[in-house]
Amino acid sequence: MAATLAFTTAKRLESMSTITSSPQFDLQPYKSLENEELTARIRAVRDQLGPELLILGHHYQQDEVIAEADLRGDSYLLSQNAADSTDCRTIVFCGVHFMAETADILGNRPEKLAERNGQRVNVILPDLAAGCSMADMAAIDQIEDAWEQLGEVLDTDDVTPITYINSAASLKAFVGRHGGMVCTSSNARAALEWAFKRTGRVMFFPDQHLGRNTALGMDISEAQMPVWNPFDDDLGGNTAAALQASKVILWQGHCSVHQMFKAQHVAMFREQHPGIKILVHPECPREVFELADESGSTGKIIKTVEAAPPGSKWAIGTELHLVNRLKQQHPEQEIHFLSPVVCMCATMYRIDLAHLCWVLENLAAGALVNVIEVDEETARWSLVALERMLEVK
Ligand code: 13P
Ligand code: SF4
Repeated sequence: MAATLAFTTAKRLESMSTITSSPQFDLQPYKSLENEELTARIRAVRDQLGPELLILGHHYQQDEVIAEADLRGDSYLLSQNAADSTDCRTIVFCGVHFMAETADILGNRPEKLAERNGQRVNVILPDLAAGCSMADMAAIDQIEDAWEQLGEVLDTDDVTPITYINSAASLKAFVGRHGGMVCTSSNARAALEWAFKRTGRVMFFPDQHLGRNTALGMDISEAQMPVWNPFDDDLGGNTAAALQASKVILWQGHCSVHQMFKAQHVAMFREQHPGIKILVHPECPREVFELADESGSTGKIIKTVEAAPPGSKWAIGTELHLVNRLKQQHPEQEIHFLSPVVCMCATMYRIDLAHLCWVLENLAAGALVNVIEVDEETARWSLVALERMLEVK
């Protein structure tokens, strides 16, 4: 029977595996401190813990938070950083929940544990409510149900499941178990090419836009990409014939931030700023993606702007904090946000200096708070899919 329960953030918080030792300090007083004081105290802990502490920051973080990160990157690079970490005992992840889970799986994989004589790296997410609304659009029971239903109309041995990294560890484990892989916005095309060498069909979740935009660039038509609605009990709202004719079955999920960019915004910027280039993240809907001049992961967006000559004009379709930072860092270029309305990632924004200082001062006092630890079986299978992600570029 199809799962019909929305996988809300509340349910994710309930189900995720966390170990939280009792905090030495309460969070509340930190919330009324000024940023200057919080920054000074964060730096004091960083100095005290030295290389034992690694702070990773995703490009969507607020400026004052990303300034405290030892390394910053897109999802792919941050996964590599976690996988390559050597000296550190604790990773504090300034990003969202799926990123911290990924860091835990890669940072504590068997070869790393052996190198450290069994010592785990603790991964801390400063605010446990920092989730991803897209990741929450695909729950493992819904995926398993869809797979079972697909098996009634086609041969699932000929389907490679691919999950975008923006998904729970349980989905990563699912694709690991079923011969699939995790992809990021940096290697989505390589992931599809990898899959089509193995099977005739792919099931892609949770982001329909990344799946569709990538597959369209590989000469797969929209008609070959039925969309699976997890709330429709009858083959996800598709006919058996449509699924049998498919190349890529897309999950009906999206990013609530990137879906705010519209084709009329592109038209408006082109009309008002002749010569402007449109640069977007591939989580944008097809009609925006196709009108763009360039696209890519957050890391690629940054590199593209960095490589552009002075006087270049851009309208950028991705999260607001990153676009504003690029504007500040490149006054020699004209940079606009590709929407008249504010599109920021509210969950990334939950990580602020107060939460960061709170977890760090607790850590320095010997209290591990907000630790993300994926259970062993899930981690084992997720690792299979994540290692493929790191190999396939
Ligand atoms: P990147 O991998 O491009 O950093 O994307 C992560 C993300 O969540 C975009 O919404
Ligand atoms: Fe998730 Fe979208 Fe936020 Fe990225 S921007 S973390 S996809 S909600």
